[in-house]
Amino acid sequence: MKFTVAIDGPAAAGKGTISRAVAARFGFAHLDTGALYRAVGVKAGGEGGDPVAAARGLTPADLAREDLRTLAAGQAASKVAVIPEVRQALLEFQREFARRDGGAVLDGRDIGTVICPEAEVKLFVTASAEVRAHRRWLEVGGDAAAVLAEVVARDARDMNRAEAPLKPAADAVVIDTSTMSIEAAVAAACDEIAKRMR
Ligand code: C5P
Repeated sequence: MKFTVAIDGPAAAGKGTISRAVAARFGFAHLDTGALYRAVGVKAGGEGGDPVAAARGLTPADLAREDLRTLAAGQAASKVAVIPEVRQALLEFQREFARRDGGAVLDGRDIGTVICPEAEVKLFVTASAEVRAHRRWLEVGGDAAAVLAEVVARDARDMNRAEAPLKPAADAVVIDTSTMSIEAAVAAACDEIAKRMR
């Protein structure tokens, strides 16, 4: 069975948590596509800075690095993510993952719009910038104002880029998690998927 769930949205909206829960519930494979861009950003940063070469030569070891969740890696990711050749280099891998047998959940920024416009389910998970920054701060710690500034700067770059900007697909279901518990957000996502599986 091929069944793709596309989950897009801004940084720290809850996409990762929802995607992992959905994958576990329905037995789907999960791909965190942000990790691909983070790995490219970090690798290029430490390699004389050729992001296109880094994207074309990405290895499983690059994706297993422990420093991919830092604020710096997030910023580096959103800088390399504006480069069309970087996005192109990562496209086929994501499409193949999406159509694997047994079902797949992919979370990112352009899954429902560019990578899998034919996905069976498209969700756009969002929340206010303040709520998202607070969640990211709980994860990374440090100065709360700096975390908010990082989230806002990254959203602006992701939404305003020419190539595959962050926006909901026309047929995406929007889930605003600002005032929702994790359980309620996961339940809303699972309901949408269950509806389309009938
Ligand atoms: O989701 P995450 O915060 O890990 O993504 C890091 C960055 O990678 C995003 O801010 C965005 O610039 C980029 N990205 C993207 N397209 C995706 C996933 C992530 O451009 N599908």
